[in-house]
Amino acid sequence: MHARVVATTAVAVLGIAAVLLSPTSDARAGGADEPTVIGHRGAAAYAPENTLPSIDKAAQLGITWVENDVQRTKDGELVVIHDDSLKRTTNVAQVFPDRAPWKVKDFTAAEIARLDAGSWYSPAYAGTRVPTLAQYMRRIEHNHEKLLLEIKNPELYPGIEQQTLKLLGNEGWLDPGHLERLIVQSFSADSIRTVHELKPAVTTALLGSPKVAQLPRYARYTDLINPSYGSLSLGYVAAVHTVDGPHGRRLGVFAWTVNDAATARALADRGVDGIISNKPDMVRAALRSD
Ligand code: G3P
Ligand code: CA
Repeated sequence: MHARVVATTAVAVLGIAAVLLSPTSDARAGGADEPTVIGHRGAAAYAPENTLPSIDKAAQLGITWVENDVQRTKDGELVVIHDDSLKRTTNVAQVFPDRAPWKVKDFTAAEIARLDAGSWYSPAYAGTRVPTLAQYMRRIEHNHEKLLLEIKNPELYPGIEQQTLKLLGNEGWLDPGHLERLIVQSFSADSIRTVHELKPAVTTALLGSPKVAQLPRYARYTDLINPSYGSLSLGYVAAVHTVDGPHGRRLGVFAWTVNDAATARALADRGVDGIISNKPDMVRAALRSD
């Protein structure tokens, strides 16, 4: 009897420790089933997406987790930008008018460093640059933030997984303390599997809504399934939660991109572990007023 109590207590303590050590553990840190709130592309509703001012804004709002998108320049520098073209979020068409369609992969880091990535959003952000991933990681560290890093369009950038992990390691982000503040995600299952195989300690997420029958296969190398919120049902979230991931914890679910209070509350009711939003302060307030 005593042994059973000790064993039960030990299992409970280990379970609590596993939750506390999980990068997604503050998904329920609010106690009352409050999902983690993640600022999409920083705080994209309030500052130009994927820039240093955008993650500064998230920090000012008290939002700890931010999301970004990582791609690679012609000369091999990792940069933070969403589209595969520079056109929408920089003044590249003015600076390099004869280089349409202005693909990120066709410009050097020095050329991209000349571009204005803020004026398209507001004159108040004129002169803002496309950050390199190294610059971005240093600002995240300075701000004491946590990062949901998306490897964007990995099919365009062979070896980007290894290169990203090398940079993260060089910046000190693969030590145990930082690993709790890092999740690497992609729409590409191959990319996520590669990240897991190269650095099994990294928490990973697969973007999309794979069929329930396929979840055990993905769970060999992904810790979270991160779907678009549109068709996300309570049943699907529950089904994901029945599967254990590569680190022995149940798979998590972070839904995107949620920019209104009612949807945020509905998703919390469906049991999601995280909500990714351009207006993370609004989502946080909605969840707390529930
Ligand atoms: O983090 C989820 C979301 O960022 C995925 O879509 O196109 O905004 O990168 P997208
Ligand atoms: Ca993204």
